[in-house]
Amino acid sequence: MTLPHPDAWRLTTAPMMDWTDRHCRVLFRHLAPHARLYTEMVTTGPLIYGDAQQHRRHLHFTECEHPVALQLGGSEREDLARAAKLGADYGYDEINLNCGCPSERVQRGAFGACLMAEPALVADCLKAMIDAVPEGVPVTVKHRIGLDHDESYAFVRDFVGTVAAAGCGVFIVHARNAVLKGLSPKENREIPPLRYDVLARLRADFPSLVFVLNGGITTAQQCVDHLAKPPATAPHGVMLGRAAYHDSYVLAQAEHALFGTPLPSREAIVGHMVDYLEREIAATRDQAFPTRVRDVARHLLGLYSGQVGGKAWRRMLSDARLLNANDPALLRRAMPYQGDYDDHRQPLLDALSG
Ligand SMILES: Cc1cc2nc3c(=O)[nH]c(=O)nc-3n(C[C@H](O)[C@H](O)[C@H](O)COP(=O)(O)O)c2cc1C
Repeated sequence: MTLPHPDAWRLTTAPMMDWTDRHCRVLFRHLAPHARLYTEMVTTGPLIYGDAQQHRRHLHFTECEHPVALQLGGSEREDLARAAKLGADYGYDEINLNCGCPSERVQRGAFGACLMAEPALVADCLKAMIDAVPEGVPVTVKHRIGLDHDESYAFVRDFVGTVAAAGCGVFIVHARNAVLKGLSPKENREIPPLRYDVLARLRADFPSLVFVLNGGITTAQQCVDHLAKPPATAPHGVMLGRAAYHDSYVLAQAEHALFGTPLPSREAIVGHMVDYLEREIAATRDQAFPTRVRDVARHLLGLYSGQVGGKAWRRMLSDARLLNANDPALLRRAMPYQGDYDDHRQPLLDALSG
């Protein structure tokens, strides 16, 4: 497998179930033109057994999302290989295997983080996936640094070594352990301590592999600082999850800091999303799942996080009465303008309190 240049992973956005659907990724793309975007995890079942309509539902993306990576969940070699091929045929730029999700539901299916206990199986699956996709489509893995309370470095080192021997060259590392019993997925993103030093050791021990650091990054400056560590131990890239969603302008700031792209105004982003919504509504009107304003608006709630007028923006974009009109112009009407935001939004705010 020939890998793209490691810079292809310099800035990435995390796979997040129920959050990073295709509408969310279009928002991310407008905020960060150079970021590599990851889908929510898609399990192999609907891809293997689903029809063309189900495939479209799970795999469809908009051209502007490139480069975009499909994250798969599964542990059956043949199923993963078929799903990976389907993803590559659909046009995804990368196929990623989830070895980091600790949810009980995922564990019952014997995939996600519990796969870290079976590096030989993961290696076997990845090899089959690599063989199934064209040469230029990298097959990568996202994983934790350990399971339960075992903090031995040898565990994750051996996992990476085994998986790399199968031909996988890119590792996205959520730098905390996964606790398989007793913690919810949410707690598993907060309670096990972040240990970035483990990533630095992996980087030094496997100089030819690409490592992307994930977990706990909340500002553009932190992205810069991680990447500016001494070259032998610095990650090649960073991955932002919750911060990119809850305070999405951070993504534009990270893009600006890492690539020098001029900062877009939030108003310009809203403008792009209104245009996108208008195109989407027109294009999906006769489909089984037509796009509605609420499908896109929900991802925009964090755009004005911490800004004057941001709370009213959130309130308007979450209000069923306003959303039911299904008019993309709601986004512009709810937009806080510096200075006069109270005035132009007053009729909407009055309608909400009425
Ligand atoms: C709502 C939500 C859903 C998630 N779903 C996935 C998923 O489908 N696949 C995955 O590998 N990680 C998933 N994660 C974990 C994130 O990809 C990421 O590893 C984690 O949030 C830590 O990064 P952060 O601190 O930047 O948020 C999810 C996280 C959240 C908040």
